[in-house]
Amino acid sequence: MDETNQTDKSNMIEVLESIPEQIAEAVKLAKDVKVTEPIKRIMVAGMGGSAVSGDILKAYLKDKIDVRVNRNYFLPELVGKETLLFILSYSGNTEETISAYRTAQRKNMNMVVITTGGKLEELSKISKIPCIIIPKGFQPRAALAYLFFPMLTVLYNSHFIDNPVEDIKKTIKTLKNPKFKERAQDLAEKLVEKIPLIYTSERMGVVAYRWKTQFNENAKVHAFCHVFPELDHNELVGYGNIKAGYHVIIIKDDDDYVKVKKRIDITKRLISEAGINVTEMVIKGECFLTKLFSAIYLGDLTSYYLALKYGTDPTPVEVIEELKKGL
Ligand code: F6R
Repeated sequence: MDETNQTDKSNMIEVLESIPEQIAEAVKLAKDVKVTEPIKRIMVAGMGGSAVSGDILKAYLKDKIDVRVNRNYFLPELVGKETLLFILSYSGNTEETISAYRTAQRKNMNMVVITTGGKLEELSKISKIPCIIIPKGFQPRAALAYLFFPMLTVLYNSHFIDNPVEDIKKTIKTLKNPKFKERAQDLAEKLVEKIPLIYTSERMGVVAYRWKTQFNENAKVHAFCHVFPELDHNELVGYGNIKAGYHVIIIKDDDDYVKVKKRIDITKRLISEAGINVTEMVIKGECFLTKLFSAIYLGDLTSYYLALKYGTDPTPVEVIEELKKGL
């Protein structure tokens, strides 16, 4: 039995600690899956914690392949056989994602399904659509590695991208650093009784969005995010009439465009002058994949520690379940 299988999946910190092992296992799950038809673009259809893997893929492959993320019942008219569609649903039972699957099937699209089972496994078996089965028992948002890395492996197997193995190795090694926990605990302390506002450059935008959703689902608090340079053209003005106790988190990367870096510095000064505390989190890593996952990991941990500070169980999301039952 490997280390991941021994993880108590209802214990969020154990799940977070086992992410390096999950990544290695996730890569193996897709080792025999490839697509042979030529494609022009990739689309990832999913919702919530499943869909965010599509945003990470889009960020990682920026400028190399056109990647789009579809969070809805239907697919845009423009996609057809030249689009490779990854259908991602951890449970396999999310209605928007099943509907997107059915639309894609009518269009006879090239598809790969990634799921633990459910309706999507059933449907893909009937139609002989490649289906990668990932381990059950996690919260969908905590199964990020299992949802993301099989896509990367399929794309490599299909010769659509360069070999990502070195980037993956660097990422696994970096995430084992115990410093992440210390940084996350320090930040969580500052966020008690505050509304987190998370800002980053557009190229790291998925990171800010993941932080927001992890604050929502783990700590059960509201949180909001925006990206540079756009936020300097609207959100910044909102500091003229502050109506709540915010704490601004700016996630910085040395490789951000020089003008964006200058904007970040000036924005930080202006927000501080408006009386709001700002914490900068500088993300380091040997490659972009490592930076993306390091930044995401830091946010996952911070939201976990914030949940503990509020006396909230980070794992269940009962209100999402209740809503789904009502549909
Ligand atoms: C719960 C979570 C949710 C789900 C979403 C879609 O942990 O992250 O955002 O991901 O409700 O469900 P799945 O992923 O099963 O398709």
